[in-house]
Amino acid sequence: MSTFRKTILITGGAGFIGSHVVRLFVRNHPDYLVVNLDALTYAGNLENLKDVEDAPNYLFVKENLLNAEGLDRVMETHRPDGIIHLAAESHVDRSISSPLDFVYTNVIGTVNLLNAAKKCWDGQFDGKRFYHVSTDEVYGTLGATGLFTEETPYDPHSPYSASKAASDHFVRAYGDTYGLPFVLSNCSNNYGPHHFPEKLIPLMINNVLKGKPLPVYGDGKYTRDWLFVKDHALAIDLIYHKGATGATYNIGGFNEWQNIDLVRLLCRLMDQKTGRPEGSSEELITYVKDRPGHDLRYAIDATKLKSELGWTPTVTFEEGLSQTIDWYLENGAWLEHVTSGAYQDYYAQQYV
Ligand code: NAD
Ligand code: DAU
Repeated sequence: MSTFRKTILITGGAGFIGSHVVRLFVRNHPDYLVVNLDALTYAGNLENLKDVEDAPNYLFVKENLLNAEGLDRVMETHRPDGIIHLAAESHVDRSISSPLDFVYTNVIGTVNLLNAAKKCWDGQFDGKRFYHVSTDEVYGTLGATGLFTEETPYDPHSPYSASKAASDHFVRAYGDTYGLPFVLSNCSNNYGPHHFPEKLIPLMINNVLKGKPLPVYGDGKYTRDWLFVKDHALAIDLIYHKGATGATYNIGGFNEWQNIDLVRLLCRLMDQKTGRPEGSSEELITYVKDRPGHDLRYAIDATKLKSELGWTPTVTFEEGLSQTIDWYLENGAWLEHVTSGAYQDYYAQQYV
């Protein structure tokens, strides 16, 4: 008999956002058993969870979403009250070179998890919840004005966003068809500690440290809406506990930046924090060929989350970026570990 009040299964907990969600749940909910299910792909790293790995309410299970029998076993063993599903292939550029990997994990993997939940819960849905973590990229792109709301029609353009859109549709379909109690959120671009350096912000920090070119796609005028990862984790905790069943919540920081302005800001902060001569990091900026199908602008209207559940970001962009850079400067070993081996092959293919 478990001594814990609840068991929560978190998928993708060894990844960037997942590790922040796991840490938050392990620390904020000592009466929950937190089971982290992750296949440990190139993006999954148990080093991200060193500080909670010995906690009495934390368990790690290495399993792949593509192993349906394995998922059934995990569900049967732990009989979780809730699932927070973050595991995914998450990088747009990789989805352009290997779209099928995204179909397998994001679409088939999500359907496997839905089936495992449905089978284990077997119509006894009282107190159960399937929380699907998704992205604002499913809405496609905005022009110069406007914001994505929860009612914006889906219009994905990359294999990544198409696979996430499909997974969102499957989650809602399982709600409509089988009564599976779900909640869903679509978030804007996250940044913060433990972010894999194939994504814009950590890639630029890493390249400044290595004195390598800073590759800006196209004209650099693409716009993203940046949110500190710990504020996303707090939103997930709130939505998991207080969100309405069957509802969707947009999460974003009301914090739009054109890529080139953001890279210049990062360069200035890196010069200040590392004692490099002012302006020297900016000299590394190099315009490179554009991403095919590149969405011009993402911007989230998070009014529903604010007004219905009272969420607001706790960290300003200045504080968040500063904390993020400090974390990378203090965690050179983490950066070295994740940028050795397969990372070098990926980088050579993507940028040369
Ligand atoms: P990430 O790539 O850093 O981590 C993904 C994790 O999933 C890794 O630990 C990996 O090992 C695991 N995983 C991948 N394939 C798996 C499989 N087949 N079986 C089991 N585990 C597998 O991703 P992230 O940036 O932390 O994103 C997490 C979730 O949040 C994703 O669903 C993503 O679509 C969504 N999201 C991300 C952002 C962002 O800015 N990063 C924004 C909005 C939404
Ligand atoms: O909007 C949410 C999404 O944000 C998440 O769903 C994805 O999982 C996450 O990866 C992120 O997607 P983006 O494609 O917006 O993030 P990325 O960091 O890859 O790129 C951000 C912007 O920077 C984008 O306009 C492309 C550009 N870019 C990116 C890289 C890696 C560059 O100009 N140069 C680069 O080297």
